[in-house]
Amino acid sequence: MALERLQKVIAEAGIASRRKAEKMIVDGRVRVDGKVVTKLGTKVDTFSNITVDGDPIERESLHTYLFYKPRGIVSTAKDEKGRKTVVDYFEDIPYRLYPVGRLDYDTSGLLLMTNDGKLANKLMHPKNEVSKVYVAKIKGILTPEEIMSLKKGVKFDKYKSSRAKVKILKTDKRKNTQIVQLTIHEGHYHQVKRMFKAVGHLVEKLSRERYAFLELGNLASGQYRELTHEEIDRLKHLN
Ligand code: URA
Repeated sequence: MALERLQKVIAEAGIASRRKAEKMIVDGRVRVDGKVVTKLGTKVDTFSNITVDGDPIERESLHTYLFYKPRGIVSTAKDEKGRKTVVDYFEDIPYRLYPVGRLDYDTSGLLLMTNDGKLANKLMHPKNEVSKVYVAKIKGILTPEEIMSLKKGVKFDKYKSSRAKVKILKTDKRKNTQIVQLTIHEGHYHQVKRMFKAVGHLVEKLSRERYAFLELGNLASGQYRELTHEEIDRLKHLN
């Protein structure tokens, strides 16, 4: 979740310039969650309660979008190599959105973008086990034993994957490739690619089709839509 410097948050709330906000902090006029904070650079998150002279500052309203991430863009807010990022697609949206988790540069599909730190944290917390459905095009054809291993859990590096669902969508014997739907509840770095690698198959193409109960619907690659209140509510009450 995005942690931000206190003076930046105060400035962005439109109360004062960054420099004046710094002075307010040093002068002891600012409280975070009830405590006076005089240290510049103190980090706060989207649900810290901030007051200036006892008055709460207006924080951004909370918004969450369902985004169809195209292949070939990074899902961090900034990229050190200057590549296009998911945030670049939201230039017209006046909120500071960030992705809920990550999809690889070469992975497409459903990615939530939000400025709601609490919701993002909840969804990303391993104990909440949000289900994610991926469709992978893999090299080679899975044997029944390999399918069983994927279902039961495979070792990759220091992890062992939990139970997964595996469904073969298409097998192309001539090209020696297969399209496989994999449902998992975890989100380790490169998890799907590493799970297939653990059973000896390379992922050639990967997309995420579903996140919890959410699907891409009629969105085209690069498009997004805001989640409805009902959808947000359902996400908040998952499990
Ligand atoms: N697993 C991966 O390997 N890559 C992704 O982008 C998402 C899940």
